[in-house]
Amino acid sequence: MPVQIAPSVLASDFANLQSEIEMLNASACDYIHVDIMDGVFVPNISFGIPVTQAISKHAKKPLDVHLMIVNPDNYLEAFANAGAAVISVHVEACVHLHRSLQAIKALGCKAGVAINPHTPISALEEVIQDIDLVCVMSVNPGFGGQKFIENTYDKVRRLKELINRKNAPTVIEIDGGVNLENAPLLMAAGADVLVAGSFVFNSSNPIETIKQLKSL
Ligand code: DX5
Ligand code: ZN
Repeated sequence: MPVQIAPSVLASDFANLQSEIEMLNASACDYIHVDIMDGVFVPNISFGIPVTQAISKHAKKPLDVHLMIVNPDNYLEAFANAGAAVISVHVEACVHLHRSLQAIKALGCKAGVAINPHTPISALEEVIQDIDLVCVMSVNPGFGGQKFIENTYDKVRRLKELINRKNAPTVIEIDGGVNLENAPLLMAAGADVLVAGSFVFNSSNPIETIKQLKSL
């Protein structure tokens, strides 16, 4: 399957959100990545449920909602109602990860799990069959525009091995510092979905940049 691209609106112009979403609708992207930060799980605050709802109102691509929040279980229904197609919770924020995954699926969404750079793949070993998407953080979550962590390639290879060994339906998403240089290496390592924030929105022609990433 060709690589899927999920531009992160965190890097977009929030004062012109409607036109940014319309630009993404017209582009070759597959998802719209929505970064939710609570100032507790990560040292930054982005936006929450009403803004997600506003994005959803204009979006013609599925919303890939990345919850960088504590107690995500309390907000799953709200984000599903706000238009999420995929909801990813952080393994580090979930005491009962399996329960959270079941709850996401019961709401009719795809269930994702995000893992921080220091979290080993083995943390997912017992639940991998229940995960639709693993979001491998290739930066420490909290900010856009950070430097890609090189250990990610090896981590993705080991995750791919686990998925194959368990015959799991899971796709691998990479989040943080993705650009045209590391994207082909990530795909070779086993990545299926690439999130790109600043690389897309800071480029002079975001539609063209998405097209370039998509055609790798
Ligand atoms: C980081 C977020 C990422 C971020 C990616 O906490 O989860 O989705 O917006 O942005 P870039 O591509 O700029 O690293
Ligand atoms: Zn993200």
